[in-house]
Parts: sequence; structure tokens; C-alpha cells
Amino acid sequence: MSVQAKRRADYQPPAFSIATVDLHITLHPTQTQVISTLSVTRNGNHDSPLILDGDNLSLNTIAINGNALSDDEYTVSDTLLSISTHLDEFVLEITNTIAPEQNKALEGLYLSGGAYCTQCEAEGFRRITYFMDRPDVLSVYTVTVVADKSVPMLLANGNPVDKGEVDENTHFVKWHDPHPKPCYLFALVAGDFDLLTDSYTTTSGKEVALELYVDKGKKSQGVFALESLKRAMKWDEDVFGLEYDLDIYMIVAVDFFNMGAMENKGLNVFNSKFVLADQKSATDDDFFNVESVIAHEYFHNWTGNRITCRDWFQLSLKEGLTVFRDQQFSADMTSALSNRIKHVRVMREHQFAEDASAMSHPIRPEEVIEMNNFYTVTVYDKGAEVIRMFHTLLGPEGFRRGMDEYFRRHDGQAVTCDDFISAMQSATDLDLTQFSRWYSQSGTPIITVEHCTESAENGMFKHTFTLSQHTPATSDQSEKQPLYIPVNIEIIDKQGNTYTDNESLIQNGMIVLKDASMRFTVNAQSADLTPVVLGNFSAPAKVENPLGTDALLTIFKHSKDPFNRWDAMQTLYDRCIKQLEASPDAEISNDIWNGIKQAIAQEQDNLELLGECLVIPSFETLCQSRSNINVAALSKARKAFCDQYARSLEQELLNVFNNIEQSAYSYTQDAINKRRCKNVVLAHLARLPQHESMVIAQFDSADNMTDTLGALRSAQHCSSATFDSLMAQFEETWNHDPLVLDKWFALHATQNRDDIFATITMLCEHPQFAMSNPNRVRSVIGSFAFYNSEKFHSLDGSGYKFVTDYLLKLDAVNPQVAARIVTPLTQWQGFAIEHQQQMKQQLGRLLNHKGLSKDVFEKVSKSLA
Ligand code: ARG
Ligand code: ZN
Repeated sequence: MSVQAKRRADYQPPAFSIATVDLHITLHPTQTQVISTLSVTRNGNHDSPLILDGDNLSLNTIAINGNALSDDEYTVSDTLLSISTHLDEFVLEITNTIAPEQNKALEGLYLSGGAYCTQCEAEGFRRITYFMDRPDVLSVYTVTVVADKSVPMLLANGNPVDKGEVDENTHFVKWHDPHPKPCYLFALVAGDFDLLTDSYTTTSGKEVALELYVDKGKKSQGVFALESLKRAMKWDEDVFGLEYDLDIYMIVAVDFFNMGAMENKGLNVFNSKFVLADQKSATDDDFFNVESVIAHEYFHNWTGNRITCRDWFQLSLKEGLTVFRDQQFSADMTSALSNRIKHVRVMREHQFAEDASAMSHPIRPEEVIEMNNFYTVTVYDKGAEVIRMFHTLLGPEGFRRGMDEYFRRHDGQAVTCDDFISAMQSATDLDLTQFSRWYSQSGTPIITVEHCTESAENGMFKHTFTLSQHTPATSDQSEKQPLYIPVNIEIIDKQGNTYTDNESLIQNGMIVLKDASMRFTVNAQSADLTPVVLGNFSAPAKVENPLGTDALLTIFKHSKDPFNRWDAMQTLYDRCIKQLEASPDAEISNDIWNGIKQAIAQEQDNLELLGECLVIPSFETLCQSRSNINVAALSKARKAFCDQYARSLEQELLNVFNNIEQSAYSYTQDAINKRRCKNVVLAHLARLPQHESMVIAQFDSADNMTDTLGALRSAQHCSSATFDSLMAQFEETWNHDPLVLDKWFALHATQNRDDIFATITMLCEHPQFAMSNPNRVRSVIGSFAFYNSEKFHSLDGSGYKFVTDYLLKLDAVNPQVAARIVTPLTQWQGFAIEHQQQMKQQLGRLLNHKGLSKDVFEKVSKSLA
């Protein structure tokens, strides 16, 4: 396969502009007709042809200023339409046909469970009609949607300006969007939905109609999303002074969707998973995700739509920034602590893994084969961490000044990450030149802490701390430079007294590490100081800080920052598991159990922190602090630790559980914290056969999905008879609701059982399963590949082979989803050689496959290079 990568360095401004786009789209499952009328202007003096992108289109007619073109005036290939003309300004009319029903890649115009919908980001518009499919071509769109009357609701971006009958059976609606936009923000939806309506009045008094479209019969499950939208609109006004800018804001929930959601101007399209939620069917996490994705897409209206990206290499310009904004919003709506923990977990579990793999890339990539492969945890989540560092360095006011300046300079434009940095630079005296390396350098920096103690005069001690940074080479970049790193730091002694340095390098609890290493000193009466480094995960880095278990427990007791207390506990657990890896039959010392007991006692009134502190790091997180991993040995050690944990802390855990009073369900922070803590504890206790009945009791009495699922997850540690019986009950209750059934699919797929492949094969034959539905595939195959570490990494290679066999079929249907699920197979770097060989063997099968998509090709070829 020969595919060409595109390079950021090769950017050229567009040769033509397209001021207006008039689309006339007559919907039909296999014969949708598109008439596109473009007003085109040549940019500057050149005689290049007009080159339009097209993919899977059949071209019918093409005319300039009303005159059909002759064969020698254009050429058309599978991917391009090239038009020769000497005119500098002209109207181009193209008609083409597409078949939405056959579109299983879910890019462009497709049918989702009977409804027409579109997904154009990144490069899907070219699957609807010929166009300059790049984000720096901005146009004003007028769209007429025509359909059979059996399709009652016809939606597109902007405001409805006309509607009527075409004939007895056919009707149309015409939409106009006054804001110039790139084609990736185009959207069309047509179908029969239930509609929820509301309205929102902005601070300046503008009334906005809000409309939420959901599958028939699901109206009550849309209420929370609509309330979330209003909270997001208010928050953006309060925090950033940003108001909505159209008369109507529409959200449509669809069942077939490759990603989470899409911020199309005035017409967001959502995976129904991030819209529908009620007490019975949705967990607290589901509610959280609905609110955060609703907010994310809404915030894009300014950071993404009003100011968009010049080219796709700049994706983090809108995504990193918008993720940061939705994180700040969620922290304000729920709790700062649990949000921070949630996001740091994502970084450590997934982003660090990406950086350690052959897909490592800077938040602003240099080279791309398939853009859809770069909607990554690096661009999104590490990108958000980089924005967070601006916020840390400039402070909230400075950051707001920088944002205001960004909007003042660039509203209505398609710009670059450098433009954003430069707006931030205007709001601070700090020199951001070195900081901007975070955009160009890939990899996870490692901060090393050294600590020397000498006795000094008057019985005092002089402590010398050295902080060093280095970023290991990544597959895309061998040379690394020092980064500008804001390092949050606390120096405490055993009593919890805090210290600052003699050199005053620590300012407001933060020190800037910008060279390969730096040194500072602290004088103290105590010989025993503990440095807490990179508090609150102040930069996307790893820390090597050689602290003993005593020091970790000191941090737990005395750090001012609850995040750091949680983090110390995580490190402590990691240490214990390392000990069990080295000697599987070892017993964790009583000192440690006593330390944890004290910690539980100390935090018994803070259920939020307590709940998080009782979570043992996931297998995936443990992998990031290890190399040469033998999966069976690591899983065994983790399991041994969990078993000892339950046995040693049984009484304390029971007390916590019993002290949390049961009350009727409500989605409030206090109630969420209680449920979370209770379910974490239940999962521990479930490892002890004598408490199996607690699991069953909770399952039987739960009045909400959080507790039902909490019981079901805990039941994984009970006898298989109990687990099987609860799973069967759950299926019977929820068989009608695919979103709930996804949870059941995922639980089955992550079981460490010998008949796992038979189970998965059965799941794939379940009446609710379809390979064409990404949510189902992610629940079954994705969960297996990402989270069933023992069976996926089984040393006989069966897990790798099973996933590969499936991907070979899936790739022909939906390459985007296939390319996501191939990820764990490409991340072989940390595993022992026996694993690596088996993984590479399967990657080789994929690479040799005839007709492999460029999505999967890009990831597989990089990982075998
Ligand atoms: N812009 C969307 C979001 O973050 C994501 C769309 C990505 N779609 C894709 N096919 N790569 O909200
Ligand atoms: Zn986004």
C-alpha cells in the first residue's frame, strides 16, 4: 500500500475562496441528489486550476456561470475534481449523487437507524459533494433539504428561512447560516424524532430557542441534557463573557456515531450515549459525561467555530482549549477534586501509553496520513493540560485577558496554535518562547527528584534538592530539549510543618523547571523532610521521587492538597504491587495496613477523597510505571494485593460501608460521593465470600443504575454462579435498551474466563448487537482489547489473534472504529518480548491484508516500522 503523509510544513493558503455555498439536497436512501452552487473567487494572481476534493461521489453535471463544461475543461478521479478556467470570479454548479444507506463508515451523509445525519469533521464533507475540504475555506451556507413527507423533520445549520411542499408527497425546509464556516461544520439531519424545547435568554437579552431531538419515546431521558446546556450557556457568559450567536440551538441524538459528538454550527449531532440519561438507566458517570460533552460541544461555538483551525495539524487549538474549558466547567458544576483525579487517570492510563508507542506525536502533529487518527488523547487531553499550564502560569485573570485578546484578534478567522500562544503572550510578562515547545515536542517528560541532607550549625539540617528533567526519545523524535515546566511543590516534615527554599525559587507553591536540572536548598530543624513534587499534576509529566512508604503516609496525612494525598496513596499501592511482583507469596507489612487504616480514619468524613483513595490503580495505569511486563505476573500481583487489601481492612471497609446511609436517589454532589465510596468499598468486600450477600442485596434493592452496576461489577469477584445469575437478571430487565445493554456487553467481555471467546462470539450474535453500530463494537471488542488484559495478552496469542480476526472484518465496514480498537495491539513497547512477538505477528497480518484502510494502515505500519 502506498499512501502519502501530509506535512504541516507544506501548508499553502487556498488558491480560491468560496464566499457562498448553496446546497439543494434531495434525500433518498440510495439516490440522494446534491446540487451545489458555489461562488468562487481566485485568490491573487495565478493560473492554477480549481481543485476540489471528492470521495465516493458520482458526478452528474458541472457548469460554470450556467454553461456546462466540456470534457477537456475538467478531470475527475476517485479523490479529486480539477477544473480549468481563466475566470477570476465565477459561479460553479455541480450535481452529484450519493447513497447514504450504503455508507457504513459513518462519515459524510449516512442513515442512523432510519434517520439521515451527517458527520463531516475532519474530511467527510467531500463524501457529500465536491469541495475544497479544508478548514481555512470559510463560506456562508444556504441549504435546502428536500424529502419525502414520511421524513417529517428536516434540519440544517443556522435559521430556518423557508419551508413548503414540493409536491403531494414531498416537502422541503430551507436553512440559512449567516456565520461563515468551514465545511467540516456543515450538518444535515432528517428523520422522525421526539422533540424537547426550551429557551435561554442571554445576558444581553437575546432569546435563544433550544431544541433537543431524540428517538421516539425517549423524551424524558433528554431533560438532563437540556438543563446541562443551559448551565453551560450561563457558565460561558460568567467565566469568559461569551454569548451564543444564533436564534436557535439544536442538538440531535443518534444511535450510530463514530465519536462522542460534533459541534456543527447551531446543529450539534450527538452519540445518544451522551444525551440520554435518567436515574433508572444511567449511572452517575453517565450523567457526568452527558453534562461535560454537552458543554464541550457548546463551548466549541467560540473555540472552534467562531475561531477555527487553519489546517488540521492545528486541531489542538480548538480541542485542547475546549477540553480545558469543559473540565473547568465540570469542576465548577461538580467538584474540582474528583474532576482532577478523573482527568489525571486518563493521562496516566492512556496518554502516557500513546506517548510510549509508535503513535507518539506532539499535541500539534507534524505528519498525518489519516486525520481521523489524530483525534487522540494527546491532542485532546495533553492539549488541555498545556492550556491548563497557561492558566497556571498566567493566573485566572491573565488567562482571561489572553482569551479576550485571542477573540479580539481572530474572531471569524482560521488560525494556528502560534496565534493562540501569541495572544497569551500579550497578556503576560513571562517569555513564552520556551514554553511553546510543548506544541512541538512529543513524549512524556520525566522529572527526577534528588534529596541530600547534611547537618549544619545549631543542630539544623541543610537539605539540598535537585530537580532534573529529561524526555526519553520517542519514535517520531529522537532529540529532546528541556521544557518549561511549572512544578507545584510542597516541602513538609513529619508534623506537617511546611518549608520554603533559601533561594526563593518557590513562589506561591510553584517552581519553574526550565533547564535540564536545578537545585534549591531548605534549612530545617528536622532531618526528615518530604518533597511533594508535581502536586495537582501541574504538568503532564512523570515523577521519579524516591520516597519511602513512611514519606508517602506523611504526605497522605499532611499535604494541604487533597489531590496530593490521593496521589501518595496511589504510589503506595503501586509500591506494594511491585513487592508482590518480586515475591508473589509476600505479605504486605502491618505498618502499611496500619497506615492505610489511619488514613481511612482521617478521611472518614470526606467520602469524596476517601472513595478515590480506596481505588487500586488499574492494570493499565500500573503498566505505565513498568517495563518488560509479564501480564500474568502483574495481574496476579495486583489481584493478590486486592485480596490482601480486603482481608486486612475488612473491618474498616465494613464500617465505611455501614456508615453511609441509604437515601432515595438524587444527582447531587453529596449523594454522588456517597454512592461512589460505597461502591468502591463493596467491590473490595466482594472478594470475601462471607460478603457475597451484600452484593446481592444491593443488586436487588437498588433504585438507580449506579448502584445496580456497582453491584454487578462487584459480583465479578463473587462466585461465578452469583455473577452469572445477576448478569442474566440484568439482561432480562434491560434487553430493550441498547445503551444499558452496552454496559452488560462490556462486563461480559472483560471477564477473565477460559470460555471468553465463546462468550464474545455469543455476544456478537446477540439480537441487539450489530457490527455496523460503533457503540456495540466498542462495548464488546473494544472492552476486550483495552480492558481484558489477561485474556487479550494471553501468551498463547489467542487474544491478539481474536481481535485481529475481528478487525479484518470491521475495517471493511468502519475503518475509523477499527483504527481505534487496534490501539492496544500497537502498544507493545512496554511488554515482555514473548508478548511483543505475538503482537507483532498479528500486526503483520493486518499490514499484509489487501484493501486495508489508510486509518488502520497508518497505525499498524508505524508500529511495525
Ligand atoms: N470535534 C468533535 C469533538 O471533539 C470530534 C469529532 C471528531 N470526529 C472524527 N471523525 N474524527 O467534539
Ligand atoms: Zn471537541
